[in-house]
Amino acid sequence: MHWNSLTALALVAPASALLRFGCSQLVVERVDPLVNPGVSPSPHLHQIIGGNAFQLNMDPKVDIGETATCTTCQFSEDFSNYWTAVLFFQHRNGSVHRVPQIPNAGFEGSAGGMTVYYMQDGLANYAQTSKVTAFKQGFRMLVGEASYRTKAEAKRFRQITYTCLENIGTRFPETMDFPKKPCKAGIMANVRFPTCWDGKNLDSPDHMSHMAYPEQGTFESGGPCPASHPVRVPQLMYETIWDTSAFNDQSMWPEEEGKQPFVWSMGDKTGFGSHGDYVFGWKGDSLQRAMDSPCYVNCPTLKTQSIATQNKCSVPKVVTEEVDGWLDAIPGLMPAEKKA
Ligand SMILES: *[C@@H]1O[C@H](CO)[C@@H](O)[C@H](O)[C@H]1NC(C)=O
Repeated sequence: MHWNSLTALALVAPASALLRFGCSQLVVERVDPLVNPGVSPSPHLHQIIGGNAFQLNMDPKVDIGETATCTTCQFSEDFSNYWTAVLFFQHRNGSVHRVPQIPNAGFEGSAGGMTVYYMQDGLANYAQTSKVTAFKQGFRMLVGEASYRTKAEAKRFRQITYTCLENIGTRFPETMDFPKKPCKAGIMANVRFPTCWDGKNLDSPDHMSHMAYPEQGTFESGGPCPASHPVRVPQLMYETIWDTSAFNDQSMWPEEEGKQPFVWSMGDKTGFGSHGDYVFGWKGDSLQRAMDSPCYVNCPTLKTQSIATQNKCSVPKVVTEEVDGWLDAIPGLMPAEKKA
């Protein structure tokens, strides 16, 4: 599904809600208020988008929809924070370089960041008619496990994948591990969250057990939620486009056959450790209102801001360390073994 076909559908789809919007970068640093609150620096580097209430400690009792004053997201009532690990390129000489992020087609001009989706049904179901209950103030969740390095482990999660972009519109195939060959237009990292909530807990000690996948089938196939997690919530999805084009010259790649050079900021060279974090922060009832309205990408019930305004929102860095340019090591990790 491409941006263009989604836009065309907006003309024909009646009462359906599918939000798809761009958010610029808020900050790139070693901060993780969900998994490592108060820890400065946190173990690995993140790239964060959303509202400027983002900080080392985020008390779930504080309504960030009320305390934030700007957001890097297109819908200006969305002060949520969304984050993932950061992708690095490792040169065969051992040095590492942060891979830049670029926006999806349709969001040109946005400074890095991600594309965020909230869906009522799978993308193939144009009607988007299933009722969903929006997340509530104080809600948080995590999907994926930073320490995983095998497919067997990563299978615990559904739909955390990569798309090797031939061009900006490539959407398949998706793989669970990093692409093994250079990807002309970049690597898109896709993170889809579980869609069934226990209806009681806004968070849980592992930030996951208050959420579950459908009991049978999938969200896309309309599978029912289990009795333990009966509340169907929107499917939240992140697309991050890592612009690998400056690193596609294979003379810089590892010499060993079949080895690829990209590494997540927690030291994962497989891709199986991909993860996404979410701290809800829509203002008032704006997300529920949008999900109950005829919102197909464009959403008249929500306030929108220009990309130039989005790009202006930022937060001061808490952790001061170099994350750009050629580095000896990924921030927080040991330098890689050097090769002459
Ligand atoms: C590795 O190569 C890059 C790109 O040419 C260079 O900037 C960097 O200094 C090199 N690192 C080492 C350790 O030689």
